[in-house]
Amino acid sequence: MTNRPLIVAPSILGADLGRIEAEAKRIQESGAEWVHVDIMDGHFVPNISFGVNMVRTLRRLMGEATLDVHLMIEQPDRYANEFIEAGADCLNIHLEARHQSARTLASIREKGCRTGLALNPATLLKHAVPLLPLCDQLLCMTVNPGFGGQPFLSEVLPKIREAREIILRQNVQVDISVDGGINNETAAQCVASGANILVSGSYLFSQPDLTKAVTAMRSAATAANVSG
Ligand code: DX5
Ligand code: ZN
Repeated sequence: MTNRPLIVAPSILGADLGRIEAEAKRIQESGAEWVHVDIMDGHFVPNISFGVNMVRTLRRLMGEATLDVHLMIEQPDRYANEFIEAGADCLNIHLEARHQSARTLASIREKGCRTGLALNPATLLKHAVPLLPLCDQLLCMTVNPGFGGQPFLSEVLPKIREAREIILRQNVQVDISVDGGINNETAAQCVASGANILVSGSYLFSQPDLTKAVTAMRSAATAANVSG
């Protein structure tokens, strides 16, 4: 269960990038609170997606929309500034990347951008706990990062539950985000465990009506939050 506001964030990686303008409009009209933007460098993950230009383009196309940028890159400290200047509202950096997470988080926050700390499925929560005061959100990966369309790893659920308990106990204002294999059913499981930001790519974009899909995911999550 969570007392934080529920946020649905379609991942642009799942959209039809050949029609980026139309897709940006479709997301804006869907009622989704945020847009998730996956940056992959071919080093930190074995795939290359897009870079800072995608953030700049989405900022231009989507006006005030909240851009939640997920840096799956080896040196987030080196590029953070460029992404902030391009229009990122939140930068999620990986604990496992080659940098000092505390320093990177502090410098992102200093520039007025929201901070997110992302954890791969196998990364233990205890490594993130000392960094929570520097974070606005904790991103618990529910697949190994690098590709859309992978199956949800339910073994991450206990980590989400433990994170929510620690956050409540520490009395810090930290959101919990989940990313990978999120559909209505797994969204409900994550929210019942304490997540409140739902990133979803292939599931949402495979639905015929994005607005209905976003609404249905929010309803499933709200119901799970009441009963969970
Ligand atoms: C995976 C990315 C995800 C991806 C999710 O490495 O971080 O944001 O877009 O895609 P689905 O929802 O298809 O698992
Ligand atoms: Zn992502």
